[in-house]
Amino acid sequence: MTPPQLTEAEALELLAQHYGLTEQLFTLPGERDRNFQLCLASGEKNTFKVVNAEVPLESLKTEIRAMQHLNSILGGLVPNPLADQAGRFISQGSLQNGSTCWLRLQSWQPGTPLAEFRPHTTELFHSVGHLMGRVATSLSTLAVPDPNPELPWHPDQALQIVEEGLSLVTDPLLKNFLEQALRLYDRYGRPLETDLPRSLIQNDANDYNVLVHGKLEGPPELSLIDFGDIVVSWTCAEAAVTLAYTLLGQIAPWKALQATLSGFSQARPLSLLEAEFVWPMALMRLGVSIVMAAKQIQEQPENEYLLISQQPIRELLQRLKDLSLEEGIARSRFACGHSPIHRKVSLETILEKQFFFPVMGQALTPDNTLLLPLGIESPTSDWLSGEVEEQSARIQQAIESAQKIFALGLYDEIRLCYTAPEFQQDLESRTVHLGLDVFGLAGTPIFAPLDGTFVTVHDNAQEQDYGPTLVLQHEDLNGENFFTLYGHLDPECLALWQPGDFVQAGTRIARIGASPRNGNWPPHLHLQVIGHRMGWETDFPGVALPSEQSFWKQLSPNPYRLLGIQEQSWVEPEGLPQDLLARRLHIMGRNLSLSYKKPLTILRGEGVYLIDSLGRRFVDCVNNVAHVGHCHPRVVEAQRKQSSLLNTNTRYLHPELVRYAERLCGLFPDPLNVCFLVCTGSEANELALRLAQAHTQAQGMVVVDVGYHGHTKSLIDLSPYKHNGPGGKGAPDWVRTTPMPDAYRGVYREHHPDPGSAYGGKVIEHAESLAKSETGLAGFICESILSCGGQIVLPENYLQTAYAGVRRLGGLCIADEVQVGFGRVGKTFWGFELQGVVPDIVTLGKPIGNGHPLAAVITTTEIAEAFANGMEYFNTFGGNPVSAAVGNAVLDVIEEENLQKHALTLGNYLLERWKGMSKRCPALGQVRGEGLFLGMEFVADPVQRIPCAARATYVVERMKAQGFLLSTDGPDHNVIKFKPPLVFPDSEAERLCNNLEQILREVPLQLA
Ligand SMILES: Cc1ncc(COP(=O)(O)O)c(C=O)c1O
Repeated sequence: MTPPQLTEAEALELLAQHYGLTEQLFTLPGERDRNFQLCLASGEKNTFKVVNAEVPLESLKTEIRAMQHLNSILGGLVPNPLADQAGRFISQGSLQNGSTCWLRLQSWQPGTPLAEFRPHTTELFHSVGHLMGRVATSLSTLAVPDPNPELPWHPDQALQIVEEGLSLVTDPLLKNFLEQALRLYDRYGRPLETDLPRSLIQNDANDYNVLVHGKLEGPPELSLIDFGDIVVSWTCAEAAVTLAYTLLGQIAPWKALQATLSGFSQARPLSLLEAEFVWPMALMRLGVSIVMAAKQIQEQPENEYLLISQQPIRELLQRLKDLSLEEGIARSRFACGHSPIHRKVSLETILEKQFFFPVMGQALTPDNTLLLPLGIESPTSDWLSGEVEEQSARIQQAIESAQKIFALGLYDEIRLCYTAPEFQQDLESRTVHLGLDVFGLAGTPIFAPLDGTFVTVHDNAQEQDYGPTLVLQHEDLNGENFFTLYGHLDPECLALWQPGDFVQAGTRIARIGASPRNGNWPPHLHLQVIGHRMGWETDFPGVALPSEQSFWKQLSPNPYRLLGIQEQSWVEPEGLPQDLLARRLHIMGRNLSLSYKKPLTILRGEGVYLIDSLGRRFVDCVNNVAHVGHCHPRVVEAQRKQSSLLNTNTRYLHPELVRYAERLCGLFPDPLNVCFLVCTGSEANELALRLAQAHTQAQGMVVVDVGYHGHTKSLIDLSPYKHNGPGGKGAPDWVRTTPMPDAYRGVYREHHPDPGSAYGGKVIEHAESLAKSETGLAGFICESILSCGGQIVLPENYLQTAYAGVRRLGGLCIADEVQVGFGRVGKTFWGFELQGVVPDIVTLGKPIGNGHPLAAVITTTEIAEAFANGMEYFNTFGGNPVSAAVGNAVLDVIEEENLQKHALTLGNYLLERWKGMSKRCPALGQVRGEGLFLGMEFVADPVQRIPCAARATYVVERMKAQGFLLSTDGPDHNVIKFKPPLVFPDSEAERLCNNLEQILREVPLQLA
């Protein structure tokens, strides 16, 4: 049925005639109806629908009733039908071509169609499912006859439509899919049809009918339009239709399925039968779509758009091609809150009750078996580092020296050893081990635990795969089936058995294989129980994605009983305590903050990566402490070595300490040549303050607004970021605060001829006032790039002007390099060098020890002498030999890996890319920085430059979802800071930029 033919002028006439409205009209797309957007003088909008007269009046009436019904229950989530001048919701109109039509008016639903909305997150699909669950629940209380029984999109007709249309489809990908979908529906869908509850359903939650109201915070709000395909059918078909559309365009179809169906069933619980029906019906819906398009293409072969519109389906089918379609049923059951597989007695119970011949020929016990932890917190690298021969020798030696026969790798362990590309999926890595690994000598025999028939005899020969693999099918004591999988075998078994061969319990079926033939692992057996193969044939996942841990664990429970192990507790990996957050909040100070809405539990670091308790790898973009990379082997080794020799204080001579102090001072211009070693940045600044006050015999300090210099009592006084923030008491009278030299949002901006000197003048004003006050002027402290202030690069001439003025008044100048030092700024080794000045005192911290508590103060002989007034300076931990060894190792790495140059090159590249993005995204007001100390400032509008923290937080959370850890700073929390370990790889920079580019285009970030 085609939409009625009429001009906008004609539509306007009809509107005036029937509704008394004379407003502006805009044409909208529509498959059945001719739709217009109507803009009223009040600013309100309506939708005007001109409907083909062939549409039965009764079906239109049901449509109106359904909308009114939903409106009364769900509020404004669907359009509200509006009456004509005579009070009718459907009027009959006459067209100039002599035909008649139906007229309808309804309220306008704002929002972006799901198809055009970005991002497509799992939360969004959960909300779509939830909305449609609510719609299905509400419509099911409306008892009406089927308004559109003949509709080709009717779920009841799907099978027939696809069967009949199959011959029209010639494309092999589409045809093959249709054949599979029909087979699946026939086997799993059709038998359930008669047992499923039926009701009125909307039946068309496609991605142009679901509208999204994107927000920067909280879940998106959704609404639904178009009730033209409303039918009475299986209620759960509503979920199937919704799922068919949310799958389109998804890189990870199973994630979209999990989100959509869990959302739907939260609002309208789906019974086990309904959950099983949803997947085959969703495939049939896609099938109908393919067939309908094929029909249209046949009718209009010249219409290229018809082919393009099939592209999302083709892309989805390409992805589904590599997946087992049958798995969709288990996935749907699980997403709806049921067990993924159907069993009368659970596999765990069977494994408890059934007798098994021990797979290794003898029961594994603590007497003959060594536990080999390979989980995230165990030093996996110790066992599985280096060449596979070394790994094998290391493990075998451990077994022998413990006087055991086997070593056991555990079930449900989170492991980082699966590095092949096949283990990477949808931004995650498969890390959850689903079997038990029995390490032993190659050639060790393996026995069938129960009578069984081989269903797989196959060589999964890829690197890090199973190698030669056997899968046996068994019948348990209740007559139900389950499977056992044996991986990394000696290839001999491939010739020994064929699928269909039967073996009795206790038969030797294989031997442990040797590397590299076994998938290139140290010799071991991977043993796994499988409840249902879900269509997997020669292979079955042995490791799962962390996000799918509970799904896979239900399919493959712990197989310890097959090895004759009695005590499950013996072979359970040490899990992470569930109550970590609550315990931390209880036992630790409440004002210790945690990052992110959902805090991360980070257990390992490696270069720029931080790895959480599920083995998820995040790119650390903010930790400038891990300057040369998390856990740099060179630094770790220096620390380990010196810790094993000596760790004491500075009251003894030690070559490492003196060498370090000399090296460090050697990195500074004259006359900065005396060094004090301390443990933290706060200690360094505290000492710097004492030095300045001792030298000047005055107390007063000028500080920069929003600055932070440390957590001690005096440093809180010096830190407006703290004393002017929540809980702060403001600046004491010996501290004067000068404005941040912010040329983007401050008083003097880019159009000022010399903002640096102007801001420097402000420093001098405050210094003068202090010098005249009782406290006198001790000095001026300033970071070389403002960090807490929001990554603000000091404008040219700022420090030159300020330092000259302060010194003229007898004060000292302190450069706080705790954040930016050690080559980070790229052009120079120290941040103050960018300004062409030489401070009197420099404080160092954070990066200096790559995470080891080390910090330093560098000053002139003259100032150090003034401080040495007879009172001993002693610091228990400062300058101990371990810290000195670490400090030396950090300097070595910076030099050897040429990190300062890398910071410059990569920093310039990133700035260039981000500047381009800022031009295209007005919400990104400014990007700035030096080297790898960069910032992105988000605003509500680029002219007024009103800060917008919500936008910055949105980007931080979205980037976290893509695996990048960023955070915000600045007085208004609207600046994203980027100060990663300097070993940031170019490849990750590229990935970061690509993700950022996408995110900046997302709907919630667009300015109104
Ligand atoms: C600029 C600056 N100075 C000093 C400190 C204090 O260092 P610490 O936390 O090591 O005491 C910090 C800490 O964030 C800082 O950012």
